[in-house]
Amino acid sequence: MKLITAIIRSYQLDQVRESLIAAGIERITVSRAAGHGQQKKEEFYRGVKVIPGLTPKMRVEIAVNEEFVETTVNAIISAARSAQGKDGDIGDGKIFITNLEECIRIRTGERGGSAI
Ligand SMILES: Nc1ncnc2c1ncn2[C@@H]1O[C@H](COP(=O)(O)OP(=O)(O)OP(=O)(O)O)[C@@H](O)[C@H]1O
Ligand SMILES: [Mg+2]
Repeated sequence: MKLITAIIRSYQLDQVRESLIAAGIERITVSRAAGHGQQKKEEFYRGVKVIPGLTPKMRVEIAVNEEFVETTVNAIISAARSAQGKDGDIGDGKIFITNLEECIRIRTGERGGSAI
């Protein structure tokens, strides 16, 4: 099992959700996030070093069995990459994939892949 965590532009959440649902991925957790990627720069304000504002983003979390990892990743990328250029735009977001140790459905006590 894998946990797929995507940090995406807030205004692209709906199209990412629709893309995932169209790909058959219907279980999802969404939360507000803020951060910066590689464009973070130090700035000076009245001689004091400050970190410029954090950019609001949405965090999308999806736990899947192995065979759905690529489908999920492709659905996120196709909806979250800006269309202007083939390579998208700075700040389009990032996807992290981590091994998921366990999953338990509280109602039934099922564990593992069948609980996902
Ligand atoms: N290595 C990281 N660790 C934790 N969070 C990250 C990391 N990289 C990016 N993020 C989060 O993802 C958001 C979007 O990242 P972003 O798309 O700007 O990545 P990037 O590496 O700067 O790529 P790009 O050059 O395309 O902008 C950031 O605002 C931050 O919240
Ligand atoms: Mg960036």
